[in-house]
Amino acid sequence: MLQNRWDAALYENKHSFVWQYGENLIALLSPQQGESILDLGCGTGQLTQQIAATGAEVIGIDYATSMIEQAQKNYPNLKFTVADARNIEFSQAFDAVFSNAVLHWIQQPEQVVKFIWQALKPGGRFIAEFGGKGNIQLIVEALSQATEPSFNIRNPWYFPSIGEYATLLEEQGFCVTYATLFERLTPLQGEAGLANWIQMFASHLLSGIPSDQQVEIIGDVEQRLRSRLYRDGVWFVDYKRIRVMAIKD
Ligand code: BEZ
Repeated sequence: MLQNRWDAALYENKHSFVWQYGENLIALLSPQQGESILDLGCGTGQLTQQIAATGAEVIGIDYATSMIEQAQKNYPNLKFTVADARNIEFSQAFDAVFSNAVLHWIQQPEQVVKFIWQALKPGGRFIAEFGGKGNIQLIVEALSQATEPSFNIRNPWYFPSIGEYATLLEEQGFCVTYATLFERLTPLQGEAGLANWIQMFASHLLSGIPSDQQVEIIGDVEQRLRSRLYRDGVWFVDYKRIRVMAIKD
């Protein structure tokens, strides 16, 4: 996980789909008045606020200081904290842990699952969506083809299959009540949509490469992907999402 490179303004202005698609995950969470809920990886707080609007008591945590600062500015009445989900203890236990579009950033999923278990009350629920097996495969392949082998582009994300992730949850003691993997071809904004997406979410893959070469590489990636991910003036990302719900028995 990379802590402070997140550009909160680029995230809010050009990538609002991240929390817009997360809105129906809140339906799966079904927050109730008075419940205590942890929003793990809250970004700039939009879904935290929607959960709070149901009458639940929510705390939003995120690894990126820039995101938490913006979340606190957006929603001064809500609680937000910078925290690492692999290594944090709460004095309270929660009725639910909710997480949208974050867990693929953490390469130590066992530690996160253990943390979630410890954070929940007995009977508490864990609801999450994140990138699953095959997520952004076309983009990763194109980036790797467009880059000299010496840069050794590696996939830094965790994109498990349903079987892999459900097994991890069960090994921790969870009862998995729902798990699905689905494609979500996601439209981006404008002609620079793919370039903005790479800058926001994958720029660390290109770190160490001089910036003029990065521009060339992104142009090359666009060329390679145009026939697959560009339609009628719109760029798309080839997302594959995992959704899970699990109960602490
Ligand atoms: C996602 O699946 O949401 C995602 C994956 C990698 C980078 C950025 C976003």
